[in-house]
Amino acid sequence: MIPYLKKLVTGQFHSLFTLYQVAVFLLQSIFTGNSFFGYKSQKLGSRSVAYELQCSDGNTTQICPLNNPEIFDTDNLSAPQCPEYFRWIYEDLRPWKRTGLTREIVESGIDKANFRILVVDGKLYMDKYSDVFQTRDVFTVWGILQLLKLYPGKVPDLDFLFHCGDLPVIPRSDYMGANASVPPPVFHYCRDDSTLDLVFPDWSFWGWPEINIRPWVSLKNELKKGNKKIKWRKRKPYAHWQGNSWVSDNRGDLMKCNVTDKNDWNARLYQVNWEDEIKTGFKHTNLADQCTHRYKIYIEGRAWSVSEKYILACDSMTLLVKPQFYDFFTRSLQPLVHYWPINNNNKCQSIQFAVDWGNSYQNEAQRIGRAGSNFIKEGLKMENVYDYMYHTLNEYAKLMKYKPTVPPKAIELCSETMACSEHEEPNKRFKVESMVKNPSESSPCILAPPYSRNEIDAMKEKQESIRKQVEEWEGSEDVRKVNY
Ligand SMILES: *[C@@H]1O[C@H](CO)[C@@H](O)[C@H](O)[C@H]1NC(C)=O
Ligand SMILES: *[C@@H]1O[C@H](CO)[C@@H](O)[C@H](O)[C@H]1NC(C)=O
Ligand SMILES: *[C@@H]1O[C@H](CO)[C@@H](O)[C@H](O)[C@H]1NC(C)=O
Ligand SMILES: *[C@@H]1O[C@H](CO)[C@@H](O)[C@H](O)[C@H]1NC(C)=O
Repeated sequence: MIPYLKKLVTGQFHSLFTLYQVAVFLLQSIFTGNSFFGYKSQKLGSRSVAYELQCSDGNTTQICPLNNPEIFDTDNLSAPQCPEYFRWIYEDLRPWKRTGLTREIVESGIDKANFRILVVDGKLYMDKYSDVFQTRDVFTVWGILQLLKLYPGKVPDLDFLFHCGDLPVIPRSDYMGANASVPPPVFHYCRDDSTLDLVFPDWSFWGWPEINIRPWVSLKNELKKGNKKIKWRKRKPYAHWQGNSWVSDNRGDLMKCNVTDKNDWNARLYQVNWEDEIKTGFKHTNLADQCTHRYKIYIEGRAWSVSEKYILACDSMTLLVKPQFYDFFTRSLQPLVHYWPINNNNKCQSIQFAVDWGNSYQNEAQRIGRAGSNFIKEGLKMENVYDYMYHTLNEYAKLMKYKPTVPPKAIELCSETMACSEHEEPNKRFKVESMVKNPSESSPCILAPPYSRNEIDAMKEKQESIRKQVEEWEGSEDVRKVNY
């Protein structure tokens, strides 16, 4: 049996040689579709353990490594504090704080879920219940597998359900009242105040092949470069939005704010035709080429939109149309700090006012743009995305009152079974690119204690009062009234 992990002696020569090998292996596997591909990567001068995919020769069925991954001590002392948004983890799990999680409670949500994941002794099993849109499930599970590689031995035994649709599935109102049953815990990409879904990072962090969105680590770097192409002051002094306006009435409504012969609300809005884009190789939808305007509009689609992180990362001031849904990081975004709030009931005037203000007070507008970008650059580093997954699953596991057992229909999954036989482009490339290459040398970040009820109320009140304040400024139609 080939060991799952190989320890390598680090040396400069060795590293260079390895880098060369990486390139050769990658090119070979990408261009020949060879069933074997593997690579090594290591940090100079540090303890190095490199993961390799142990792919079978193509004639035998791919199996998962038999051994559990080796466990390493990690350095607790260098672990930083988690970003503020992690504290919402406790809020999401609050409905089960008193009862804990029994197998019955978890299984009561099966009809709301697309699949169930079990982690038992470091190995992952999936029981799939139904098909999902595109490859959301594939890249979500891939991400969870990478978490297991990043923190070998640290992820506890788990049994949880996952839903991959757009809209949340656990309405709070179904579980209220004296005789109400305990709601089922179901992980999903977003929720709102009327639902109890447990938020979890969406698939796009590992790639969205259908619309050519690369894994977040690479895309984030591209965005950083794209950002430098045009300085803020040289960018077009309008609010830009590009996307699919058909998915919701609200987006359709936004389209009324587009510039016409008669009106100019300072908005420049573009419909994306994904079919054309696919045919022409995504020429007009490269995200790194979209930091061209001083202001960028974010508006929800059917629910939360994956685009929010890309929009915020542009250094342009984000004009955020009042959202209903939140994903795992958005609850900690502050109006007038990270973005300018746009009134959903009066979009056009609201956008016009925000842009007029920004063009009159350019330093201030730039500051908001940069703060939004920094929130994404620092707060949403891939390390943090994994740490969020770790902590939310770890807190969930603390509530579990049973040791999970693998249901008969569940199958074991590992990076090998998911990647070795993948031949479709760019799916294969995205998996290789987003594979965790080394176990983490440091522990997950340190989770701050839960918010108190008062703190949460105060935060909500503050956000609400800022919105009202901005609406008053808008009503005055005079940007000099803005007291920023
Ligand atoms: C797979 O099986 C075929 C037919 O038995 C054989 O010709 C081929 O060499 C095998 N491939 C590998 C990589 O072992
Ligand atoms: C590091 O943290 C782990 C888990 O929190 C703990 O079990 C271990 O004792 C800590 N190690 C040190 C050296 O503090
Ligand atoms: C709750 O159950 C009890 C006992 O079965 C019943 O008397 C009561 O009416 C129920 N309350 C509600 C709100 O349904
Ligand atoms: C908005 O207006 C611009 C400029 O006239 C135009 O190019 C664009 O197609 C319009 N967008 C939509 C969604 O109609």
